[in-house]
Amino acid sequence: MLREIIIYPDKRLKQLSKPVEKFDQELHTLLDDMYETMIAKNGVGLAGIQIGVAKQVLIINIPIETDSQEPQKQQPKENTLEVINPRILEAEGKNRYQEGCLSVPGYFEEVERYKRVKVEYQDRYGNITIIDDDDFLAIALQHEMDHLGGRLFIERLSLLKRKKFEKEWKKRQKRKGK
Ligand code: CO
Repeated sequence: MLREIIIYPDKRLKQLSKPVEKFDQELHTLLDDMYETMIAKNGVGLAGIQIGVAKQVLIINIPIETDSQEPQKQQPKENTLEVINPRILEAEGKNRYQEGCLSVPGYFEEVERYKRVKVEYQDRYGNITIIDDDDFLAIALQHEMDHLGGRLFIERLSLLKRKKFEKEWKKRQKRKGK
C-alpha cells in the first residue's frame, strides 16, 4: 500500500525513532509499503519516520544499471536492503556526495559524510547482520540513519547554504500556494 511521504518542514520529521522489538507481520507490511512508496517516488532510500512511523526502520535500494528504462526492473524488490535497529560500529574518512531526500523533494546539495561505515543491524526476521561499505551505500546508510535521529541532510549544510535553501524553499511553497 502506498503511504504518504511527510515533507519538510513538518515537525514529525524531527521525532526520534524507537527500536523495533517485534519482527512480525506488521513490520513486514511496513517494509513492503515503504518499498512501494519509495519506488513510486523514484527514491533510493526511505526511513519509517518519512511516512510517519517513528520506528528504527529504513530501506535502501540502489538502482542497478541496465539498458531497460523500466524503473521497477532497475530497483527490484529483492535488491532492497532492509535495515532495522542499526548502529554504527566503525566510521572513518570523509566523502562528499550530492544528496537528495523524498522529504525535501527537488532539492539536491553536497553533504560531507564518513567515507566508510561498518553498521550492525537486524533484518526483517530479527537476524543480526553487519554491513561494511565505503561507497554510495555508506552515504545512503548515513543519510537514512540521520532520519532515525530526527535529522535531515539540509541540517548538515553550511550556514550560508542552509540560509539559501530556506529562502528558495519558502519561495517555492508560496508558488505552490497560489
Ligand atoms: Co532522506
